[in-house]
Amino acid sequence: MGNVEFPENFLWGAATSSHQIEGNNRNNDWWKWEEEGRVKEASGKACSGYDLYKEDIGLAKDLGHSAHRFSLEWSRIEPEEGRFDEAAMAHYRDIIKHARALGMEPVVTMNHFTLPLWFSERGGWLSDKSADVFAVFAKRAAEYLGEDVKYWITINEPVGFAYTSFVEGSWPPGHHSFKDAIKVFISLLKAHSLAYDIIHKIYKQKGRKPPMVSIAKHIHLFAPCRKDSPLDILSAKLRYWYFNKLFIDSLMSGFCLAPGLPVTRLPMKRSLDFLGVNYYTRDFIRNAGLIPPRIFGGVCTYGHHLDFGRRNFLKWEIFPQGMYDVLTEFSKYKLPILITENGICTNDDRERSDFILKHLKEVSRAIKDGAPVFGYLHWSLLDNFEWAHGFGPRFGLVEIDYATQERRVRPSARIYARIIKEGHV
Ligand code: FCB
Repeated sequence: MGNVEFPENFLWGAATSSHQIEGNNRNNDWWKWEEEGRVKEASGKACSGYDLYKEDIGLAKDLGHSAHRFSLEWSRIEPEEGRFDEAAMAHYRDIIKHARALGMEPVVTMNHFTLPLWFSERGGWLSDKSADVFAVFAKRAAEYLGEDVKYWITINEPVGFAYTSFVEGSWPPGHHSFKDAIKVFISLLKAHSLAYDIIHKIYKQKGRKPPMVSIAKHIHLFAPCRKDSPLDILSAKLRYWYFNKLFIDSLMSGFCLAPGLPVTRLPMKRSLDFLGVNYYTRDFIRNAGLIPPRIFGGVCTYGHHLDFGRRNFLKWEIFPQGMYDVLTEFSKYKLPILITENGICTNDDRERSDFILKHLKEVSRAIKDGAPVFGYLHWSLLDNFEWAHGFGPRFGLVEIDYATQERRVRPSARIYARIIKEGHV
């Protein structure tokens, strides 16, 4: 036996999301966006995950996973405002029961980017009512499904979502407006805060043990392009703070206070029972001016950095040490940490094995140095629909043959299984 480098009841598993695997999610904003030809390919049947969930959870079980992260498709559960679909609820309840029966801890995301059409048509997160409307959904989900759920993620990557959908515009609704992004940022803060409160209330009312509620926060590292340039350093730091910290800081303090954003009081403070962290990569930032948004700089694409690591299929830098940096830095919130996503898209599965080994070494190093990490969920269990990039990027521990929907376990999944079994890298 080697050194046991991970705590005994560490949660080991993988993550998926509804729209990326289920197929035929016709009633959400992404489907519409795809039909309008706004992306290179449509999600279509995806992995037929809605029908094949038992097979997929079974595969995860065979690979030794002790946790399973997946998301609810809001548009299936609440196809029209206020109408909750029993069959859809029963479906997700079955996923939870099935995971539990196989000894896996379900980690349930309430919203992973996609929005019911009715919600997006009424302004989506730009609407003043959006947070309250989301809270109604969160309440129903907690009532119906909470019996067997301890870990809830209310919203996946709120800041990344606001940025990509409202500044960059490559996701629906495709806006290019900082003003809109700020509004969405505030709505998402309120939505989480209200949902946190209501989920806890429901559990209390029903006499259940208190749940653990969080968000999955994408932590993106930003380094100055020119290490000795005060302006590049300033831009990288500003990005780091706005993108990575402000949302968490606001949830912790109960108000949002930042230059350029409206001062906002949230319904409550300390609305995180743990911290869900998605970590993938870092970017090098070059300052572009002194007034916003130029002060946030731009991502340097010259590729001239000597310490630049290899890149994945989508050209994101592979930077394992960043995992250590993120975990030690975010330990300062004194919240237990669950790594809710970390993974690589590649056509060479040996790269995936290497990625897993290197990142898990950094996780274990961080734990040794005191980071309170209690689980690691790899992105992803299956190859899937990678949003605007379509099916090209392969993130799965399990390969999907999209023509036949056949699942093939990759060697990297076995390496991950061995680490899980032995408890050390
Ligand atoms: C994360 C998303 C997830 C997937 C991975 C690659 O930002 O949460 O849905 O797209 O990136």
